[in-house]
Amino acid sequence: MVNDKIRKRVEELRELIHYHDHKYYVENNPEISDYEYDQLMRELKELEEKYPSLRTPNSPTQRVGGEPIEGFPTVEHHIPMLSLDNTYSEDEIREFEARLHRELPDEEFEYVVELKIDGVSISLIYEDGEFIRGSTRGDGRRGDEVTANLKTVRTIPLKLRKKVPGRIEVRGEVYMSVSGFRKLNRERERRGESLFANPRNAAAGSLKLLDPKITSQRPLDSFIYNLTESTSIATPPTHFESLELLKEWGFKVNPYIKLCRSIQEVIDYCSLWAKRREELDYEVDGMVIKVNSIEQQRRLGSTSKSPRWAIAYKFPAKQATTKIKDIIVQVGRTGALTPVAILEPTPLAGSTISRATLHNEDEIRRKDIRIGDTVILEKGGDVIPQVVKVVESKRTGKEKKFSMPKRCPVCGAEVVRLEDEAVARCIGSSCPAQLKERIAHYARRTAMDIEGLGDKLINQLVDKKIVQDIADLYKLDLATLSSLERMGEKSAQNLLSQIERSKSQPLNRLIFALGIRYVGARGARILSEHFSSLDELSRATQEELEAIPEIGPRTANSIVLFFKEKKNKELIEKLRRYGVQMGRKEERRREAPLAGKRFVFTGSLEHYSRQEARELVESLGARVVSSVSKKVDYVVVGKNPGSKYEKAKSLGVRTLSEEEFQELVRSVVKSEG
Ligand code: IVH
Repeated sequence: MVNDKIRKRVEELRELIHYHDHKYYVENNPEISDYEYDQLMRELKELEEKYPSLRTPNSPTQRVGGEPIEGFPTVEHHIPMLSLDNTYSEDEIREFEARLHRELPDEEFEYVVELKIDGVSISLIYEDGEFIRGSTRGDGRRGDEVTANLKTVRTIPLKLRKKVPGRIEVRGEVYMSVSGFRKLNRERERRGESLFANPRNAAAGSLKLLDPKITSQRPLDSFIYNLTESTSIATPPTHFESLELLKEWGFKVNPYIKLCRSIQEVIDYCSLWAKRREELDYEVDGMVIKVNSIEQQRRLGSTSKSPRWAIAYKFPAKQATTKIKDIIVQVGRTGALTPVAILEPTPLAGSTISRATLHNEDEIRRKDIRIGDTVILEKGGDVIPQVVKVVESKRTGKEKKFSMPKRCPVCGAEVVRLEDEAVARCIGSSCPAQLKERIAHYARRTAMDIEGLGDKLINQLVDKKIVQDIADLYKLDLATLSSLERMGEKSAQNLLSQIERSKSQPLNRLIFALGIRYVGARGARILSEHFSSLDELSRATQEELEAIPEIGPRTANSIVLFFKEKKNKELIEKLRRYGVQMGRKEERRREAPLAGKRFVFTGSLEHYSRQEARELVESLGARVVSSVSKKVDYVVVGKNPGSKYEKAKSLGVRTLSEEEFQELVRSVVKSEG
């Protein structure tokens, strides 16, 4: 029997979790630690399991996704979900104002200007404060009901924070952050799955999954921008005030909303964001300009397609059309062959693009990309442009289909493609292209840190067969090095001492440097804390490895396979003979110097790429997160920082300049010995 005490505790836990969800996800300002939060969630889960009669559809435990569903029922939008007319220039914005004055002569207008979020539009219905149904826009009259998937979006309240009787409907956008999108695509690439072209497609695809458990793992977020008129409560007289109300109810409303009293102010705000949009961690494709007074909105009315009281101002597209001159194949460190399109150079969002990765054979086939095709390129939240699609009408019939070479274009060894993988790999054990990548990785600043061993030098060493595996680096001498192009005696000497120094790098760096698949800087650090030497790690079984937190079955398997491989065993022996230390223990006993710390990077750094900065702090035990909250320990501020800098200041989070960051790293590395 469930007694009142338990019932009350369950209710209390739900209130608490809803409260802390809002603090964490919407306000970005958590009040309790992850641990404390997990304890609340665990207690609630246990009680719900023990007393199933207490389960409710809107319990916070439902965020992780309910049972898979068969399909999405169609729902009707009682108030149609319209779209917006687009404008592309200042003149067209002024034309919008002129139209308003024609429609309602002698009236003044106030405007609300908002970012136009590039996501998927959604409608959410609440009854007596409880989320009961959510749907996509569909054709505007009818959409798909995706309630179960929307419940997994942490910023969509399952229960409103204020008492709101009767039925209300709000509208907004579900989107994926750019950093979340990149991470998701990286994971998909590793698993050999097809990639999303941009964050919008990724958000749309995630909302259309039949298994909400998978949706719950996708980094979806929301912004709500509209409260529709309701029959059960009085809605505010202005759009601006209704946004305030939505915030009070617990919705996430975009912070960059401006109330403008003149069309000039509107135009200025639009041009400001046209320049600043790259600072955001989500994509916006323009601005939305809305008449503030709801009463005026009502009198202006709508056409069948769009309201007369609002327009979109679209930013110049981050797309370009160009021609594929050729498709070449690049060979990576693990032998993966990546097809790359060589393009007729074209400007796109501030840079000239002459190459685009085509990822793998399946992608090419799916998009039917051929040499000679005219294609549309897009910078979809990624630095690397993607080919979105082929312009078929431009085909002449002379285009050539691409097929993956059967032999490696660099070493001529066989190319194989495993059944469950999308990538084809060169299996040549001495493929120079792979070797070059492996050496470059080994020498990286976050791995063995061999300064002065750049790409040009590596090319020479490998092409002249001076270095045939990583260990050969340790037999280089002054005479050999000085005989190379662009190598003075002084720099040769410096390089030799760098190579010598690398022999005593700690275990975590060595593990990372070996380039075991799926073992990144953080994974290597974790492994080095569990094993006292490379030998011990090499003897670990799949089970032992999997028992380590954060090491999954795939990584464990890859480690076991790596150490089984004869070639790798020989390499390790050779490294040992040359004096590379394989179990520097100091690091193991001591906790990682930046363990538990969270970093955010904003703006560009002079001395590190983002990837390098991430690996550097990860190798010291810290984590890199994408958004600023009070839980963040350091915000590293580079050139042209984004809004994260402002946010850090307003929350009182410690900010570091690049020099201070370097100083911090130096000091912890030193104290580590
Ligand atoms: S208001 C009557 N505000 O843009 C239409 N829309 O073509 C009211 N969008 O389908 C829309 N950000 O998905 C509005 N701040 C914003 C928006 C926004 C993105 C999308 C929305 C809509 C499309 C308009």
